[in-house]
Amino acid sequence: MTLLPTPQRVEYSDGTLPLPAPLTWHTDADGVDAVSVLQERLAPATSFRRVAQEQDAFLRIRFDDALPKEGYRLDIRDRIDVVAADRQGAGWAIQTLLQLLPVPVFGPGPLQPEELAWPRVTVEDAPRFSWRGSHLDVARHFLPVEFVLRWLDVMALHKLNLLHLHLTDDQGWRLPVPGYPRLTDVGAWRPGTIRGHQPEPDPVRGQDVDEHDGIPHGGAYTVGDIRAIVERARQLGITVMPEVDMPGHMEAAIAAYPELASCDHVRHPRVAFGISHHVMNLTDEAIRFCETVIDTVLELFPDSPIHLGGDEAPGDHWFSHPPTKACLDELGITTAAGAQAWFEDIVCRRVLDAGRRVVVWDEVLEHGAPEGVTVMVWRDAQFVQRAVEAGFDTIAAPYAHTYFDYGESTGEHEPISIVAPTTLDDVAAYHRIWDGLDSPRLLGGQFQLWSEYLRTGATVEYFGFPRGALVAEQLWAGMPKVGWGPEDLAVPTARLTAMGINWRRFD
Ligand code: ACM
Repeated sequence: MTLLPTPQRVEYSDGTLPLPAPLTWHTDADGVDAVSVLQERLAPATSFRRVAQEQDAFLRIRFDDALPKEGYRLDIRDRIDVVAADRQGAGWAIQTLLQLLPVPVFGPGPLQPEELAWPRVTVEDAPRFSWRGSHLDVARHFLPVEFVLRWLDVMALHKLNLLHLHLTDDQGWRLPVPGYPRLTDVGAWRPGTIRGHQPEPDPVRGQDVDEHDGIPHGGAYTVGDIRAIVERARQLGITVMPEVDMPGHMEAAIAAYPELASCDHVRHPRVAFGISHHVMNLTDEAIRFCETVIDTVLELFPDSPIHLGGDEAPGDHWFSHPPTKACLDELGITTAAGAQAWFEDIVCRRVLDAGRRVVVWDEVLEHGAPEGVTVMVWRDAQFVQRAVEAGFDTIAAPYAHTYFDYGESTGEHEPISIVAPTTLDDVAAYHRIWDGLDSPRLLGGQFQLWSEYLRTGATVEYFGFPRGALVAEQLWAGMPKVGWGPEDLAVPTARLTAMGINWRRFD
């Protein structure tokens, strides 16, 4: 059995331990979610019974906070003993327990109980990084809640602990905000999407592209959907980080509330892609809107970091929008970079004052990032070093290794992608970023699935795996300790097949 991500230490001994009927278990409150996840998978093969006395239990989960965070020790002999650092460590021990069983436990069943036995083994394990993420762009193409819930299961299989949900962008707004109903009505629906590739910017009209396929696209989450996602994630040991991108990437919000505009070009959420110059204005009213949005995500995503975007916000319209210009004049601000720095300070402080982590894209390094923010580096890997050296907590999400909207191959049968190829070899080189950069400021990293060209959940899965597994491996183990050829990944990809995931088959 290939365990992926590779544990720190695995020691097999002779013999196996058959699945019992019933499976008796004992743990305290922090271990109950982990047992539930095991039970979901094994319910077709056996029943589960909680017992009062630890010595009567086949599966015992205990806690020892001397273990490294998210760490666990797993002993399979005449019974199963788990000692975990915390709730998450218990969950990861359960994922390892599942990976030690035959692949069909990841499928819909039926299961043959007599075919299910664990090898006798001791595993000692803990992650290299505390931030091991996967990003979904539900703004460019909406993904229904069922997809997101299934994605969480795939993340947990890979011991990924952070789901970054990109909830708002020029092309659609997916977040319900009290007092702003038009966001998830007008702002959630665009009249179509450009066909094929984004054309090069028109030298006369700039980035504006009006032609589209005429197929309305949209959708938004309800408060109930979001609570379901957050709760399932919590059960699996995953934190959901919402991103509300501001002050750029806001055409959908501007379409819903034209008073947020800095120009009069926006009629509906954007049908094309690329960087939009139609950014939000910087009036008091617009900033109050942003504060309401921030307060909403603080409430809907308790305990989560909050991502405020901050990328790709050309501010050329700010100085031709009289109310914004008046405001900037009063502040003595004469450049777009200065205006964005002032804006970032206000919105980031709102999150920091609530006692939460605030994350922004690495462009803020150029404007002057507010103290205390966490920088997510998407551009060149050199910005990782720069952010760390400037004293910021940093997340490595550089496009060259972790943007999986980039196709894996240029083959003629590949689906359209923004650019290609980003091969498994490119992904396997990701860890070179932190080789020689031993700083606690580097929290970890994540892979991105921007969805301009990923129109369906099946396509997201195709672009996401197996490359995502190779990122998970490096963030957990520090480097690729498995190979990434078809034989090396035969078992991990078979698990994905069992789960119904449309991973990309090898060339
Ligand atoms: C980004 O790709 N603009 C974060």
